Amino acid sequence: MVRTTSTCSAQQSNLPRLPVPTLADTARKYLKAVAPLLNNDEFNETKKIVEEFQHESKPLQELLLKRADTEENWLSQWWLDKVYLEWRSNLPIFYNPALLLPRQSYRDFDGQIQFAAHVIQGILQYRSLIDNNQIPVDRFGSDPLCMDQYRKVLGICRIPAKSIDRLHLYNKTGHRHVAIFHRNNIYRLPVYDDQGNKLSAADIYSSLKKLADSKESDEKQTLIGHLTADERQLWAPIHEQLSSVPENKNFLDTINDSLFVLCLDENYQSSSGTAIKKDTQTLMGFNFLHGGGTKYNTANRWFDKTLQVIVAPDGYSGVNYEHSLAEGGIITALVDYVLDHCKTAQPLVSTGKSSLLNKCQVVIPKDVEQSISESEKRVNKFIENCDLTVHKYPEFGKEFAKQNKLSIDGMIQVALQVAYFRMHGKCGATYESGSLRRYHLGRTETIRSCTLEAQQFARAMTEQHNETGSHTKYELFLKAMQAQRQYTTDAINAKGIDRHLLGLRLIAAENNLPKPALYNHISYKRAMHYILSTSQVGAKHDCVMIYGPAVDDGYGCCYNPRNDSINYMVTTFKINNEGTNAIEFSNHFNSSLTDMRSLIEVQCWYMDDVQDNPQDDHRLKDIDVPTLCDRTGVQVWHFQPEKTFANNECPSLTKLKQDRGYTYEDEIKVQPSMEKYEEKLKMFFAEHIHSDEEIRLVLDGSGFFDVRDCDDKWMRIHVFPGDLIILPAGMYHRFIPDSKNFIHVRRFFLGEPVWTPVNRPDGDTHPSRQDYIKHLKPHN
Ligand code: COA
Repeated sequence: MVRTTSTCSAQQSNLPRLPVPTLADTARKYLKAVAPLLNNDEFNETKKIVEEFQHESKPLQELLLKRADTEENWLSQWWLDKVYLEWRSNLPIFYNPALLLPRQSYRDFDGQIQFAAHVIQGILQYRSLIDNNQIPVDRFGSDPLCMDQYRKVLGICRIPAKSIDRLHLYNKTGHRHVAIFHRNNIYRLPVYDDQGNKLSAADIYSSLKKLADSKESDEKQTLIGHLTADERQLWAPIHEQLSSVPENKNFLDTINDSLFVLCLDENYQSSSGTAIKKDTQTLMGFNFLHGGGTKYNTANRWFDKTLQVIVAPDGYSGVNYEHSLAEGGIITALVDYVLDHCKTAQPLVSTGKSSLLNKCQVVIPKDVEQSISESEKRVNKFIENCDLTVHKYPEFGKEFAKQNKLSIDGMIQVALQVAYFRMHGKCGATYESGSLRRYHLGRTETIRSCTLEAQQFARAMTEQHNETGSHTKYELFLKAMQAQRQYTTDAINAKGIDRHLLGLRLIAAENNLPKPALYNHISYKRAMHYILSTSQVGAKHDCVMIYGPAVDDGYGCCYNPRNDSINYMVTTFKINNEGTNAIEFSNHFNSSLTDMRSLIEVQCWYMDDVQDNPQDDHRLKDIDVPTLCDRTGVQVWHFQPEKTFANNECPSLTKLKQDRGYTYEDEIKVQPSMEKYEEKLKMFFAEHIHSDEEIRLVLDGSGFFDVRDCDDKWMRIHVFPGDLIILPAGMYHRFIPDSKNFIHVRRFFLGEPVWTPVNRPDGDTHPSRQDYIKHLKPHN
């Protein structure tokens, strides 16, 4: 068993210990989680199995509670050993995520090594912060998070072994050099002087210059780095044979003891080996995820090293990291720091100190040559099976979600459900990483985003004939979002089901006790077949994290929500029997997000000239809200409906009223019971203007505001509860309830209410009309 020690600072000891959920809670949530994955018969059978599970698991639960009493964290050592170190397949794609960094300005090799030197300097500074406990404590809201993982990124290396790998751990006084990979050669570059002071970026740059000078004479070395991309049980015996050669101690120590590996790539693949042409960002994604095969950079890597920084030609750079000890957010924190450091870095001038860099000798015994070349073929074949697309969704990001009082993470997760449903006509088990860092040594819990509510919404959004009205879709959307938020809250508060189910299974195995029948049931198999493997990995810089799908017929999708856009990637395996396709999925994801936005935003369209019932839609062509605002001066907001009833609970509405100076408000209901209803409708529907702006917040019901655009064409705005609309003074408009014949609105006024409609054409010469026309942008 591999043991790691926790190195937490003082505040760490105050963090709560990871609790064990109750059996009843897990049983109840399990049924809810598997419901969207099962048919009626399967679900009824699952109910019985879950009932039995509660009885069968009682002794296991007792053992688990005992373990929780004695261990620092009942899960963390199992998580490390069982999930990571016992993994026997390949590290890249399956386990090692990559991070694609924003493109830098360098375009030649000198610029590339200057950037590399600044990156190394930045990481050395970050290391000092880690060693001196100066990394600011991460928080979720006001809760401090466990900082243990920060000490588990630098200086660490995974060593392959027969059944469970081991870790070469961090030593605060050690790791005085960086291992450089270039043209598949391995170099040792000291980065501290004899007194332990950091070398300057200029010294580091000068050493790296030696690589440029020796470029012509320096032959590419025997391929070896790709071995770390092979299956672990095949790499382990080769590693043993290589280690038994005394001359190889230097190169192995150089890698294992290094602070991190820095790969200076010479080239990158210019195609993905498929008929579809890929953009450079995506090709770089392949390069950082797996190196593109031994023809390109897969042998210029060491996937066992916890941190590999990859500096490629043409301004592209990235990271590949071994996942055993740290989550993606820890890596992006380091990268954000280093990129900030590089931003202010000055061009470097060589100091002439190039003797520091030393090439390591690698001796390949004759009897290993064959295994190494077989490994190369295997690795290239494995890599070739992975497809990827890297994208930026440009239409909205965090800010839009926040303005609408929604979680961007929830929106992305719900959009992924819609995208998968649209593409495959069904839904599938979904894994989203939720952080358990509120707890001492906490890692992650699974957020199961495939909820019944998300399934219902996805189905409504996939209808061929649009049977569900947009307001009903909006309500289904809110329910899906609430279900997602609820699961997220449960998961990050250690009330998820996955880690508990894992713990019960492992404690049964450790104690030679039978595992409950649930673990062999169809519901469990389906629940664990993660069709969508997803994660938010936020970064301050314009990055995106990349990893492979969890199953052959699934998708990997990682995202970094920006203020006004969303960086994301989608991966698939080419060989599968479900017809997965990364680009097609990404197109569905984009359109799902856009469709969700139009549900949230006020609905509007160009309309016909109303020959019959004005309470029908009269829809000619949908338009988006920016077009409506641009062409009319109308302004629209959307508030969560339940909050609009109680102003005090809706700070953004209160702020809007204050900002715009609305000091008077009243409420009105338009419905058939109103006195002289037909007459009033006629009056509302006569085209008119007001000398003041008209402000309406819909509390209940629905209706149409028709407004003239800058070309005098009618646009129709369909308003629902939560919509607030401001019609500018002097703009021709009219109102009618829709076919439901009911709307309840709150009206706001600047000072005393004014209600003097001026009908067309009398309004044409009204000063407010003249003023409105003057300010309305002409359309070209
Ligand atoms: N109204 C207004 N604002 C809201 C909101 C709402 N209903 N819901 C969320 N927000 C805010 C958040 O406070 C946050 O604000 P900030 O940018 O000022 O911090 C912002 O909107 C974005 O939040 P969002 O991303 O939607 O949700 P979240 O911050 O709760 O994150 C998880 C959810 C699941 C991503 C997060 O809890 C988590 O666990 N992250 C770690 C995942 C992980 O481990 N990944 C790595 C795996 S290797």
